[in-house]
Order: sequence, then C-alpha cells, then structure tokens
Amino acid sequence: MVNIILLGPPGAGKGTQAKRLVDERNMVQLSTGDMLREAKTSGTEMGNRVAEVMARGELVTDEIVIGLIEEKITGPAGGGFIFDGFPRTLKQADALGALLTRTGQTLDAVIEMQVDDAALVARITGRFTCGTCGEVYHEVTKPTKAVGVCDVCGSTDLRKRADDNEDALKQRLMEYYKKTSPLIGYYFAKNQLSSVDGLAEMDTVSDAIASVLDKA
Ligand code: AP5
Repeated sequence: MVNIILLGPPGAGKGTQAKRLVDERNMVQLSTGDMLREAKTSGTEMGNRVAEVMARGELVTDEIVIGLIEEKITGPAGGGFIFDGFPRTLKQADALGALLTRTGQTLDAVIEMQVDDAALVARITGRFTCGTCGEVYHEVTKPTKAVGVCDVCGSTDLRKRADDNEDALKQRLMEYYKKTSPLIGYYFAKNQLSSVDGLAEMDTVSDAIASVLDKA
C-alpha cells in the first residue's frame, strides 16, 4: 500500500493518471476538484460560493478543502490514496502530514508531473469529461471511439468544465505558480519528491509513475 500525491499545474494529467492507478492498483483517488464540483451541484450557499471561485480559476479556502479531505480519511484504504489536486498550499501540505500521522499512515511519494505551459492551453481547451462515470477525454489525443458516446459507460452526457477556457486557465496557472509550486521545494527538502515528464505519451507517463511507486 502506498499513499502518493500527484503534483502539477492544470492539465498536467493528474486526473488521467490517477484513474489508471485506481484501475490497475486498486488505489483510492481523492480529487479535491471533483469533490468541489460535487459540492457545487448541491445548490447550497456554500456550493454556489465555491462554484464562483472555481469558475474564476481561483483557489477555494484551505479550511473547506482540508475539511473535505478529513472527511474521507479515517485510516488506510485499498492500495493507498492518490491525492489529486491536493495539497495546493503549504497550509494544506502541513494539514495532510498531520492527518496521515494521526491515522497511522505515511506519505510514500510525491510525483511532480512536469509540463510546458504552452502545451496546457491545448490540453485544457480540448478536454471533455463523461458526466456519468467521470472518464476524461481529449478532442485530439483521446477522443471517444463513437462520437458523443463514453467508451466506458455508454453515456452521452459528455461535458466541458466551466473553468476550461483560456481566461480561467491563466488565473489557474497564476494560482499554481504563486501558491502550489512552493510545494516542490517543500517535498524535495523532505526527500519525498520524484519528477516525471508529463508531456510524454500517456502510457509512457504511466510507466514512469509505476517505477516511482515500485520503489516507494
Ligand atoms: P482540479 O479539478 O484539481 O483541476 P486542475 O488542478 O486545474 O487540474 P485539471 O483537472 O485541470 O488537470 P489534470 O492535471 O487532472 O489533467 P487531466 O488528466 O484532466 O481543480 C479545479 C479547481 O478546483 C481549482 O482551480 C480550484 O478552484 C479548486 N480546487 C481544487 N482543489 C483545490 C485545493 N486543494 N485547494 C483549493 N482549491 C482547490 O488532463 C488534461 C487533458 O489532457 C485531458 O483532456 C487529457 O485527456 C489530456 N492528457 C492527459 N495526459 C496526456 C498526455 N500524456 N498526452 C496527451 N494528452 C494528455
């Protein structure tokens, strides 16, 4: 069992690789982005506030996301946790460390997915997702086999995210460089950081991640 963080800017491929690890290693994906999108559909005042912040490409408060993660972790599960999009600030990183210690667990690897910013625009603007099962596609690099139908569950509910446009992406990148990229140094100093080339083919990225996990 291994607990890992997938770290990288929007569009680096964190969600794509996390889903593969769930299928191949029975790991448990904890995506704060997915959790917040679920909260958004609740129609509550908090859900509406979260929706506005996300659509602008800004980070939601630490208190909200730490609370979401704390609700999910009471002890070890499956082949280990994949933290996807969490932590995103130093405060969140400290909170995760404390939570894992409190529940008798360790953080086994932090995998930085390195990508070129210019590639992210094409990745983000071409992305669409199945609204039923969450499978992630891309108009060019990973289209559905039949137009408009999810390969995995057959749903025709294929959606684009509200924040997947160039303006929101610029803000998301700014947030990443200001608030999240310091985590690279934080985990390097803790001797937990590994880096993979996120621009490689999806299978090559998966192989690189597998080799980090096999050594963890
Ligand atoms: P979140 O949902 O976490 O989004 P993100 O970090 O911006 O990451 P993305 O989901 O956009 O990208 P990804 O790296 O998962 O890439 P993917 O695999 O889809 O967060 C959204 C918002 O929620 C935030 O802006 C913030 O407001 C809020 N939030 C979330 N967590 C928070 C936190 N902890 N604290 C505060 N606020 C928080 O791939 C992208 C595309 O590229 C896909 O189409 C895919 O098919 C394609 N692709 C992937 N890999 C490859 C490859 N190797 N080659 C070619 N194409 C590829």
